[in-house]
Amino acid sequence: MNRAKIISIGHYTPKKILTNTDLEKMVDTNDEWITQRTGIKERHIARIDEMPSDMGYEAAKEALEKANINPEDIDIILCGTVSGDYITPATACLIQAKLGAKNAFAFDISAACSGFIYGLSIAEKFILADNTKTVLVVATEKISNITNWEDRATCVLFGDGAGAAILKSSNDNSGIVASYLKTDGDLYDYIMLPGGGSKNPASLETVKNKQHYLTMKGNEVFKYAVTKMIESVEKVLVHSNWTKDDVNMIFPHQANIRIIDSIRKKINFDKDRVFININKYGNTSAATIPIAVSEALQSNKIKAGDKIVLVSFGSGFTWGALSLIW
Ligand code: UT7
Repeated sequence: MNRAKIISIGHYTPKKILTNTDLEKMVDTNDEWITQRTGIKERHIARIDEMPSDMGYEAAKEALEKANINPEDIDIILCGTVSGDYITPATACLIQAKLGAKNAFAFDISAACSGFIYGLSIAEKFILADNTKTVLVVATEKISNITNWEDRATCVLFGDGAGAAILKSSNDNSGIVASYLKTDGDLYDYIMLPGGGSKNPASLETVKNKQHYLTMKGNEVFKYAVTKMIESVEKVLVHSNWTKDDVNMIFPHQANIRIIDSIRKKINFDKDRVFININKYGNTSAATIPIAVSEALQSNKIKAGDKIVLVSFGSGFTWGALSLIW
């Protein structure tokens, strides 16, 4: 059976680390609160001159090197981001230029934390339509630029980073098995960046009102995230004809350790089959899942033939899950 397969994956995180202790000096917070309520100990913050396209380029370069593929061989570049270098052009276009992937067409996916899963699913459709295609899916975020560093309710949560995957057709049973993608736009204002778009164009007023930063109704988002990520895992297992015992490793979006633990308990998964690295990176939005998968491969936590599930939830609301045989 022909499937779309991730043939390599890379990631990049900026050098600078911001710890909870550092944050204690910036806002009224403490390491104990952040650790207990979120599971985060530290996050990586991009340099002032380091853009999402630069981080995405680094992650993509690593994925290309691992797959031994030239940039000219890429047909399509998809980039999940909500913090791109510009509103237009797409960050995917800038990554195309940096790589010299001159035969590719490129566009961004605005699905917030679900951007990587949405991107993999779109890539799959291109590959199933034409099995000669090579697709690069990047997720890159500089959330530190859209964070209100005076708001303790949000600034402790996020971090910067990027991941990138290369997909090609496979005929050995490995690859994407099923996906389940959902959106509820009625809840658009639960996590949002109010200023800078057409609704509230940039003005002195929007700057004064701090409308160029992320806002979030944390408690409500928490409940939805748990419910919808459980729903996604259950649906994708049914679509894959798998039971939970078939799954070797699940990669949940890293937004809060308590969200991950609630999901794990509800679907009755052992701890060692749920990948967690939120302690090191915080919530890097679309980039959490590719960074996690890339790290899991580096530490031999997944191997060829393993059945894995990726599951996400984010602004929009967007959510979903994807099952793969590695
Ligand atoms: O990636 C997209 C998806 N995003 C998410 O899934 C995020 C979902 N939401 C969450 O993870 C959690 O709701 C938060 C981590 C954002 C907040 O945790 P919480 O347990 O829901 O806390 P809370 O908002 O109910 O606040 C509890 C208390 C409040 O004080 P009072 O009113 O009880 O006196 C807050 O003011 O904690 C206070 N608080 C803080 N205290 C110390 C809020 N932020 C902080 C802080 N340090 N950084």
